[in-house]
Amino acid sequence: MKLLFLNGPNLNMLGIREPDIYGRQTYAALENFIRDFCGQMGIDCEIYQSNHEGALVDAIQAAYGKMDGIVINPAAYTHTSVAILDALKAVSLPAVEVHLSDVSKREDFRQVSYAGMACVKTYAGYGFDGYRLAAEYLLEHAEH
Ligand code: DQA
Repeated sequence: MKLLFLNGPNLNMLGIREPDIYGRQTYAALENFIRDFCGQMGIDCEIYQSNHEGALVDAIQAAYGKMDGIVINPAAYTHTSVAILDALKAVSLPAVEVHLSDVSKREDFRQVSYAGMACVKTYAGYGFDGYRLAAEYLLEHAEH
């Protein structure tokens, strides 16, 4: 199984940005974590981060016909981007939404998720582990 792991704006600042919310581990540590569990689960993974909405749309489109599923943390674009929602719908790949923090317990403006409307599942508030849970879900989903 081939999975694309997509991360949106400011996630490259992990370890520096708001550590009380996002933890002290860096983005490089997140990439290592993803590669490790993918290796253990036999998943072929591609990991991509961008601060730019259009680049994330391009990455989703490029997954069409190439990947079996998408794990996406659109970060702030979660709450604003119809373009990312439309891209996920366009490629129609099973997608799981991940947030490091529990967005349901945060500000009102974080209570809308456009990307989530095209996702089969959401994991929020599990830190790095949310990415593993998302991959497990997609693996299971593909097998049944
Ligand atoms: C986030 C939550 C978003 O609301 C925020 O804009 C982020 C990170 C998370 O992983 O908890 O940048 O997606």
